[in-house]
Amino acid sequence: MNVPAFKQCKQAGKKLVVVTAYDALFTRIVEQAGIEAILVGDTLGIVVQGKSNTLSVTMDEMLYHTRIVAQAAEKSLVIGDMPFLSYQVSVEETVRSAGRFLQAGAAAIKIEGGSQVIDRIEALTRFGMPVMAHIGMTPQSVNQYGGFKVQGKKEEQAEALLADAKALEAAGAFSIVLEAVPANVAKTITEQLSIPTIGIGAGPQCDGQILVLYDLLGLFDDFVPKFVKHYAHLKADAVQALQRFKEEVECAKFPSDSESYH
Ligand code: KIV
Repeated sequence: MNVPAFKQCKQAGKKLVVVTAYDALFTRIVEQAGIEAILVGDTLGIVVQGKSNTLSVTMDEMLYHTRIVAQAAEKSLVIGDMPFLSYQVSVEETVRSAGRFLQAGAAAIKIEGGSQVIDRIEALTRFGMPVMAHIGMTPQSVNQYGGFKVQGKKEEQAEALLADAKALEAAGAFSIVLEAVPANVAKTITEQLSIPTIGIGAGPQCDGQILVLYDLLGLFDDFVPKFVKHYAHLKADAVQALQRFKEEVECAKFPSDSESYH
């Protein structure tokens, strides 16, 4: 998968499937499932580092995980997520940070924000760095929202989201993530853009969907947003396996003869 092919899926009417990954093991599993694109998301601050939001994730941490995922990925489009403070300060810093993601092996980067990042996206695309935009509930603005809350419920907010989406497309974004916006708003945006929309809590009419890998596998359940569906229950399976291991060690059932050298 590459950026032009990703964009063409919209015209071909093919739904795009994207998940996050942060390490080589899960990257290989994701690729085995035929997933088109992998986002090395700054959600790693929450699901890997155990923080309550993504704001403390650093460029060095993002680059470390991006390098690992990009090295393991053979087919999927790898997108690096620009962390808080890597693009807010200036266009110059944005270009430098984005370039480091591409040097780490990502084929594209993702940036949160609408009208305020237009000049960043124009600069990045001018220099050959493909950008996935991200609007709606943008987690790096959690303090402004007062929590992870649905955005675009009021008519003027929905209109602002549509205007942002059109401006992001015109600036050169190759795709837009729509997070936690009403389904009818996401539908309108999707119909009015020629680039693919990737929804997360944005209803079924987006051109594709993204979920955080540990959410969909049922590994992370500290909090479960309405838009998450558990396709497996790996946390429960892991706890059960560990309990069985503990019991078998305690009653000297493990290791048995077949797990021992002679
Ligand atoms: O960081 C992330 O994983 C994301 C997705 C949830 C869209 O931004």
